[in-house]
Amino acid sequence: MFEKDIEFIRSQYGNAEKIALHEPYFDHREIEKTTECIESTFVSSVGKFVTEFENSIAEYCGVKRAVACVNGTNALFLALKLCGVNAGDKVVTQPLTFIATANAIAYCGAEPIFVDVDKDTMGLSPEHLETYLKKHNDVKAVAPMHTFGHPCRIKEIKDVCDRYGVVLVEDCAESLGSFVGDTHTGNFGRVGILSFNGNKIITTGGGGMLLFNDEKLADYAKHLTTQAKIPHRWEFNHDAIGYNYRMPNLNAALGMAQFEKLPMLRRKKRELAERYAAYFGGRFVKDTDGTSSNYWLNAILTANRKEREIFLTETNDAGVMTRPAWTLMNKLEMFKHCETDDLENAQWLEDRLVNIPSGVMK
Ligand SMILES: Cc1ncc(COP(=O)(O)O)c(C=O)c1O
Repeated sequence: MFEKDIEFIRSQYGNAEKIALHEPYFDHREIEKTTECIESTFVSSVGKFVTEFENSIAEYCGVKRAVACVNGTNALFLALKLCGVNAGDKVVTQPLTFIATANAIAYCGAEPIFVDVDKDTMGLSPEHLETYLKKHNDVKAVAPMHTFGHPCRIKEIKDVCDRYGVVLVEDCAESLGSFVGDTHTGNFGRVGILSFNGNKIITTGGGGMLLFNDEKLADYAKHLTTQAKIPHRWEFNHDAIGYNYRMPNLNAALGMAQFEKLPMLRRKKRELAERYAAYFGGRFVKDTDGTSSNYWLNAILTANRKEREIFLTETNDAGVMTRPAWTLMNKLEMFKHCETDDLENAQWLEDRLVNIPSGVMK
């Protein structure tokens, strides 16, 4: 049924027999930078690459400060903590997301509330959010996510949050290189977070980053990621229960080599998306007007759940790796009891959406 689609996807990857969903892109620079780091002996929590990487990411994203973290999940947990999310609080997020978003909320002892997404952006719907907030005044924070790199309607979401006095935390794990107008994602919430997991547009092996336009909050975040140690040449004193969340220098060295490639990777991913869009037409999920996605993971829509299963089977059988959208969070055992709204759009997307190979060829 989908032979032509398989042939087209394969043609984008030099007709290779096996095509992964996403692969990291490395060359000699990663070897040079990590070797320099190893030779310096500063491979752990102290070293110049972490600061360099933080400054580079902050400049690229146009935020005042970036604080490196061991991974995106912990960065999101810390972001929520920094915004005052505590045990028993409620946090609105979207059901169509990677589990890390819901888990980070749960780590705070808080309860995720799953509110529907838009069909086109695949991210939290500002209208659905407003309807929920109108009826419930006990929500502490809102944590939308920029799905597969496509920016959600974050300006409208921020407007709703401001009007209802709820703090906004942006899960930008998938959206490094994605913009709303000229503004990088991660500038709209009180805190934003990135992931540098191996499957992301650039990787540090494992890693994450907190994005801030509030310098004081950034200072405190850095303090918490380093065991809340009070700086002193030899004394060990700590003024809070901190975390060992600082990104190791070795990972940041890899990150610096990857950072050099970010504009090229973004350009090539957008070029691949253009070719997919031309081929798949209306089936292809494009970024919306006024936004510019990094096209981290390309997505197409099948006609229905049955067709989705056939597409997944045929492509994976042919060695072309594809995968469905995540099972909605509210269906998972741990989050079944959580409050939701109707989730019609999220269910519509879960039934149809498939991610297709999105890595950049050398
Ligand atoms: C939406 C989303 N949030 C959070 C994360 C967590 O990032 P990490 O894997 O670096 O912990 C990821 C990805 O992995 C993600 O896709």
